[in-house]
Amino acid sequence: MLARLIAHCRQKDPDMAIPDPLQITRREVLIAGAATAASSVPGAAGAQQAQQPEVPVSTQVSLEVNGTPRTLELDTRTSLLDTLREHMHLTGTKKGCDQGQCGACTVLVNGRRVVSCLSLAVMNEGAKVITIEGLGTPKNLHPMQAAFIRHDGYQCGYCTPGQICSAVGALDEIRRGVPSHVSADITAQPLVSSAELRERMSGNICRCGAYSNIQDAIAEVAGGKA
Ligand code: FES
Ligand code: FES
Repeated sequence: MLARLIAHCRQKDPDMAIPDPLQITRREVLIAGAATAASSVPGAAGAQQAQQPEVPVSTQVSLEVNGTPRTLELDTRTSLLDTLREHMHLTGTKKGCDQGQCGACTVLVNGRRVVSCLSLAVMNEGAKVITIEGLGTPKNLHPMQAAFIRHDGYQCGYCTPGQICSAVGALDEIRRGVPSHVSADITAQPLVSSAELRERMSGNICRCGAYSNIQDAIAEVAGGKA
């Protein structure tokens, strides 16, 4: 087998340096084999390279953010979170982990809650995005913002924009009848129970541990006790 491989290599390239068969290592056999395979498919690597589609580095992205149409030229790898914070300077949305684990970056996209660090801006072309700045204003707070203040649902406040956007999205999911992991009957209208709220808010981490007050605030807005 080895002798045939060496003979084949010599046939393809008479100048190829091939060591004494008795001294040849496994690595050298693999290299010789690879060289033979490559030489037997003329121009294969070049053709493959030629077929590679050109990947655009940047593109135009249009979004409606807090009711205002925005169009930006963005690197196609820009996350929705970085688009909001770095390109639109809407710094209410926070970056915690940047890998989908803390919920600090939660915003509403077409009414559904989304962790914006895991969503590329280009994936949201034409979408309506609501951030904490668009939910309410200091003079006209969203009911969830007002309830968080009434119930002291924060300490440092870093997770709070994500908690509030997530809570608004979670109550909308309950209203639309979307079941959660703890819904006993997935065909029944979900309840605004403690178990449901805890489960639905489990993707939003609060390092200050303000969970019980957050729960009270959400329950108040939902019109129940949790
Ligand atoms: S920053 Fe997006 S989930 Fe943590
Ligand atoms: S209030 Fe500090 S992390 Fe939640």
